Amino acid sequence: MSEFHITRTLPEDAMAAALRADVQKGLTSDPKTLPPKWFYDARGSELFEQITELPEYYPTRAEREILAGRAAEIADALPARTLVELGSGSSEKTRHLIDALRRLHTYVPVDVSDTALEQAGRALVAERPGLNVHALIADFTAGLALPPSPGPRLLAFLGGTIGNLLPGERAEFLASVRALLSPGDALLLGTDLVKAEDVLVRAYDDAAGVTAAFNKNVLNVVNRELGADFDPDAFDHVALWDPANEWIEMRLRSRAEQTVKVPALDLAVHFAAGEELRTEVSAKFRKDRVSAELAAAGLELARWWTDGEERFALSLSVVV
Ligand code: SAH
Ligand code: AVI
Repeated sequence: MSEFHITRTLPEDAMAAALRADVQKGLTSDPKTLPPKWFYDARGSELFEQITELPEYYPTRAEREILAGRAAEIADALPARTLVELGSGSSEKTRHLIDALRRLHTYVPVDVSDTALEQAGRALVAERPGLNVHALIADFTAGLALPPSPGPRLLAFLGGTIGNLLPGERAEFLASVRALLSPGDALLLGTDLVKAEDVLVRAYDDAAGVTAAFNKNVLNVVNRELGADFDPDAFDHVALWDPANEWIEMRLRSRAEQTVKVPALDLAVHFAAGEELRTEVSAKFRKDRVSAELAAAGLELARWWTDGEERFALSLSVVV
């Protein structure tokens, strides 16, 4: 018999306090910023799923191609009994791994989006008799503790979500991942690769405007949770390539001079006409950088796979 548990390791009031702190800090900084983890309420998670099906958004298809082709090799390299997945979302591509891991006992999807975890977890236990699913509503950047389950453990971080962390945050995050692993465990990491600017910008500024709606959704979250009066239509979606940092930046550009009130913080935020609020970076990688960042955290890159067009990479690394 399969079992489905969902645990909130992040109490709702702690999550609300974290949002308040991030909004207070980000909207009073120069330039203004908001962290991307707040995109993912129920609507944001749904919009992200729509993004994964856009013709311009290649990362999901490229990573799925690698997983479909290499799942058996990954399972041979690490016949995991526990699969932990950070930022699991819909767990859609993960099914390739779950199918290939013949001795899998427990799947631990970890996400801030409770709606995504509920939907994905219930679907999985219905589809895979015998699999235990222990979902964690948690922030993977805030001291993760895993439930007891048999080793070896494979910790998957797919989708290129590591690129949504800034370099310092990535170093801290990888060190915390290393601390969760024991000898014999491994990290399976998805990283989007550096490529032509026009391909990258189109992937973050699609013709149908789904990414624009996803970007503006963070304003709806701040309105709902903190009583703010952002008018999403008063901002334009901006996606640009930063060649020095090798990352895509998403921003919201104020169409006119305006003041936004955030009553829960007793804050009035002034925007000049054309002023931009940074909502996300999405770093793109080269193999050398992935390998160096892993090594700095005490992890050794053991395998590297790309899709046929070398747009995206999956790497397997082990503790040293
Ligand atoms: N892995 C899936 C989903 C990627 S979207 C895929 O490859 O398609 C990024 C996911 O990470 C979302 O489901 C979002 O809710 C989650 N997420 C973002 N920041 C997070 C954080 N700090 N802690 C936990 N989950 C986070
Ligand atoms: C989740 N993450 C890897 C996505 C990305 O491509 O950086 C989020 C996203 N932002 C805009 N489109 C998709």
